Amino acid sequence: MKNIIVLVSGGGTNLQALIDAERSGIIQGGKITCVISSKAGVYALERAEKNGIPTRVIPRKEYPDSKSYSTAILDALNEEKADLVVLAGFMTILDECVTKAYAYKIINVHPALIPSFCGDGFYGLKVHEKALEYGVKVSGATIHFVNEKADAGAIILQGTVNVLRNDTPEVLQRRIMKNVEWKLLPEAVSLFCQDKIEIIDGKAYIKD
Ligand code: GAR
Repeated sequence: MKNIIVLVSGGGTNLQALIDAERSGIIQGGKITCVISSKAGVYALERAEKNGIPTRVIPRKEYPDSKSYSTAILDALNEEKADLVVLAGFMTILDECVTKAYAYKIINVHPALIPSFCGDGFYGLKVHEKALEYGVKVSGATIHFVNEKADAGAIILQGTVNVLRNDTPEVLQRRIMKNVEWKLLPEAVSLFCQDKIEIIDGKAYIKD
């Protein structure tokens, strides 16, 4: 059984999808053993507590820079004996001390079709604002491994939704979460926990 550590910063609907998937048996071979938040008081922590999952708060604002913050996260992941780290709405970029120690063991959900609308400054609602501003007709979400560059690691799964004429960023965000993120994130986690993802030449493939 793999130890899954989920990192959050906000409402935690993706964390909830993971909790529900674990409970209903969609996630095979892994168990959420700790939730770590970069902010105190966020609803994601309540979701974890309600489900009996141990939590830790490592506040980003208490650290002067990304390096010292990432070192604190690395220590926590090692203490928790993490086999898989899931960034589920985690709004802080992790330094290479974490991404190198946990290479191909950190999965992120990004609310756009990478390589569009991603990288530094593209997070949360801003992603959907930019997609609507551009006028794309299809958007979606990407589940990918995390490496040294923001949103540039190997893609595991992607799913799409149509963008409709009167969409607001909030409406588009909700459609992408409901139709793509909440389904594909648990699916990718389950594949990882069953050792069904292989890496060939830096790209991720699902084993038959
Ligand atoms: C989700 O849409 C997730 O894809 C996005 O933030 C939202 C978090 O919602 N993540 C990023 O933008 C990371 N770059 P949640 O807290 O309800 O899961």
